[in-house]
Amino acid sequence: MSYTAQETRYETMPYRRCGRSGLKLPQMSLGLWHNFGAQADAENARAMLLGAFDLGITHFDIANNYGPPEGSAEITFGKILKSDLGPYRDEMIVSTKAGYYMWPGPYGEWGSRKQLMASLDQSLLRTGLDYVDIFYHHRPDPETPLEETMQALVDIVHSGKALYVGISNYNPEDTRRAAALLAEKGVPCLLHQMRYSMLDRGNQAVIDILPKLGMGSIAFSPLAQGLLTGKYNHGIPADSRVVTDGRFLNKDRIHEEQLDKVRKLEEVARRRGQSIAQMALTWALREQGGVTSVIIGASRLAQIEENCKALEQPDFTGDELREIDAILG
Ligand SMILES: NC(=O)c1ccc[n+]([C@@H]2O[C@H](COP(=O)([O-])OP(=O)(O)OC[C@H]3O[C@@H](n4cnc5c(N)ncnc54)[C@H](OP(=O)(O)O)[C@@H]3O)[C@@H](O)[C@H]2O)c1
Repeated sequence: MSYTAQETRYETMPYRRCGRSGLKLPQMSLGLWHNFGAQADAENARAMLLGAFDLGITHFDIANNYGPPEGSAEITFGKILKSDLGPYRDEMIVSTKAGYYMWPGPYGEWGSRKQLMASLDQSLLRTGLDYVDIFYHHRPDPETPLEETMQALVDIVHSGKALYVGISNYNPEDTRRAAALLAEKGVPCLLHQMRYSMLDRGNQAVIDILPKLGMGSIAFSPLAQGLLTGKYNHGIPADSRVVTDGRFLNKDRIHEEQLDKVRKLEEVARRRGQSIAQMALTWALREQGGVTSVIIGASRLAQIEENCKALEQPDFTGDELREIDAILG
């Protein structure tokens, strides 16, 4: 069945300006890290992507290495683009990244010009795209001069293979340096992608410096890979990430101290009339100290639908924020 997007798709999703750029991002973005690889159910992947687009999710976040195996999430995305989403290309913001291990030898990871240029060319081939909207350096490289990595990003924009560039997992100091190097060359750093959730606030310092740098912020794992949905409160469900794909979330990461916080947060969410997943997303997007957009992951469309309802809820009161801070410690 050929796909026609819902006419209502722009009616409920709020879009926020990304830093001082001209680009607006949906508050909710969808990531393809899990459940879009070669072993994933292709029909389910298609249903999630099309269902997300119907809800106004215009931003899809991928990376060279998403799968498994590496590269296969980009291939899945490319297939769905060809079969369904192609006519909507200009309504979509597609990002990809390079920097984590992708192929053997000295050029298959990190931040050399060689890695970034070759990896982006591979990503374009896999997805069938002529260009990506955002290209990220995925993680800082302690050995390559930052000047070289940033020059590669500048040249990538000039080549037309990416419209905007960003960085991911950089600390505040390297973020400032990267932003300054890019600004010198007239290519602004659009945004920073960092891990950020109620259970992992370690990157608050980097989020706080971004407005001054004119950059936007986008949080990954805003539900702490599912912990902030309450699904692990009474054991490990058979269809959860820990069981279906424990590469990055295993049993050891689910401990009583965290579950205790989740149970207390559930009580606050209940009073607000939200599920805990929805409250965790509202919190990450809060006006004071929150991010421009969150990248959610999903294993089925119903999760995306539930999570998008977070956008219907009001921001927090001061009292609620203080109560949440006390719970999180
Ligand atoms: N830049 C980086 O270094 C980096 C690193 C990691 C991720 N990312 C990006 O961030 C994206 C999101 O990361 P993430 O997948 O860890 O995000 P997340 O939103 O914290 O976790 C998503 C997982 O939580 C569960 N879930 C989501 N909504 C639910 C709901 N309403 N009810 C019950 N369970 C629910 C699902 O897992 P199950 O149903 O399988 O349990 C889902 O796959 C990635 O796809 C990627 O694009 C970037």
